[in-house]
Amino acid sequence: MLADPGSKRSEQPASCANPTRSVHPDLFVVVGVCTHLGCSPVLRLDDAALNAELHAPGGFFCPCHGSRFDLAGRVVKNVPAPTNLEVPEYRFLSDTSLQIG
Ligand code: FES
Repeated sequence: MLADPGSKRSEQPASCANPTRSVHPDLFVVVGVCTHLGCSPVLRLDDAALNAELHAPGGFFCPCHGSRFDLAGRVVKNVPAPTNLEVPEYRFLSDTSLQIG
């Protein structure tokens, strides 16, 4: 159901080259810009249709043209967005501090 499940054509740092596309699997850092035409996808945790499509408890939905992404920002097949959401370079400075860029 995902266009690029291994994130081979996506932008993410080497530290996020894993199934959750994150440094810590319980915290996802992503550029909130749809890879189609730049709208802002929204997090949806209570969308039954999206959850059923992704086989997961939530994902991201772009309200402009309907692209959908899983909780790792991986795009669903056959939607307008061509690639997964971009994961920026980032690092943890401490348990409560994150540096992006
Ligand atoms: S801008 Fe997101 S689907 Fe078009």
